[in-house]
Amino acid sequence: MAKITAAITAVGKYLPEYRLTNKILETMVDTNDEWIVSRTGIKERRILKEKGKGTSFMAIKATEDLLSKSNTDPNEIDLIIVATATRDMQAASTASFVASSIGATNAFAFDLDSACSSFLFGMSVVASYIESGKYKKVLLIGADKNSSMIDYKDRATCIIFGDGAGAVLFEPNTDGLGLQDEYLRTDGSGREFLQVAKGGSANPFEKGEVFGDEDCFVHQEGRTVFKNAVFNMADVCVKILERNNLTKDNVTWLAAHQANKRIIDATSNRVGLEESKVMTNIENYGNTTSATLPLLLVDYESQLKKGDTIIFAAFGGGFSWGAIYFKWAY
Ligand code: UT7
Repeated sequence: MAKITAAITAVGKYLPEYRLTNKILETMVDTNDEWIVSRTGIKERRILKEKGKGTSFMAIKATEDLLSKSNTDPNEIDLIIVATATRDMQAASTASFVASSIGATNAFAFDLDSACSSFLFGMSVVASYIESGKYKKVLLIGADKNSSMIDYKDRATCIIFGDGAGAVLFEPNTDGLGLQDEYLRTDGSGREFLQVAKGGSANPFEKGEVFGDEDCFVHQEGRTVFKNAVFNMADVCVKILERNNLTKDNVTWLAAHQANKRIIDATSNRVGLEESKVMTNIENYGNTTSATLPLLLVDYESQLKKGDTIIFAAFGGGFSWGAIYFKWAY
C-alpha cells in the first residue's frame, strides 16, 4: 500500500483592516520609519481594534475564506487545531469555539502553543494524525492577536508585532507530496529572553490587581533573541537539506517565520538561496507569531506549483525552532 503523507489542499487568510504604519508609530514612541525599515523590514502591521474580538474572530474569518475558496463542507472536517500564543481566554480552548462557529460539528478541536513556532510544530502534529490514517481532513489555523499583549509605549516590541490569521487544510496524499521530513527543537533556557511574565499560573494576577505593569506585556531582549534566531534557524535549514540530500538548487521556496527581515536574509544566505526563492510579507504585516507561515502560503499561493519543494522554518519564544521539508500538492 502506498505511504500516506499529509498534503496541503487549501488555504485562507484574514487580516484586520486597521493599518498601524511606521509613521503612526513615530507619534507613539521614540522611533522612525528609517530605523524600523532598515532594522526589521517592516512598513506596517494590522491591528484588530474592535473591543471584545479576540484571536477566534480572526481564526474564524480565515477559515471561512478557506472553506468558500475550496468549496469544503465544514461537516467533513475531522480535527481543528488552532496554533496560537494569544488564545481568547485562559480556560476554554479557542479551537473549540472556532469549530462550533464554522459548523464543524464532526470535529474535535484543541489549541497548540509554542510561541512563534506554534504553526510549524502544528504541521508536525497534523502530519502524524493524517499519516496514521485516522483522520482525513485536518484544519490547522495559525492566529494571533499580538496587540493584546503589546505595550505601545515599548519601542523594542511595538514596532515588530501585528495581528492576523491563516488557515490551512491538510489531507492524505499517496503521490509522495506533503510533509517529507522535520527537524524540531526547544531550549527552555531561552524562556527569560522572550516572555509575558504575568498572568500565567506561575505569576497569576492577585485579586484586585490592575492590569498594566510592564510584566503584563511581552518583554524581549531583542539582541539575544536575534542572535539565537539567526544561528538556529539557519542551522536547522542546513541540517534538513543535508539529511535529505538536497542542495539549494532542489529548493523552490523558503517559507521562514517573519520576525525580522534580517533574520530571514541571514537564513537564506546560509542556505545560499537567491532572493526570488524567499517568501516574504513582513513589510505588510510585521510579526504575526503563529500566522506568519500560513499567511505566506496564501500570499504566494498563485505562484506555487504542484511538486514545488518548500523549506518551512521558524524560531520563537521558549526558545523553540525547527525546519520542515515539504512538497506542494496543487
Ligand atoms: O518572533 C519571535 C522572535 N523574535 C525575534 O526574532 C525578534 C528578534 N530581535 C530583533 O528583531 C531585533 O533585535 C530588534 C528589531 C528587536 C531590535 O533590533 P536591533 O538591531 O537588535 O537593535 P538593538 O536592540 O541592538 O538596538 C540598537 C539601537 C539601540 O540604541 P543604542 O544603544 O545603539 O544607542 C536602541 O536603543 O537602536 C535603539 N532602538 C531603537 N531606535 C529607534 C531600539 N529600538 C528602537 C526603535 N526605534 N524602535
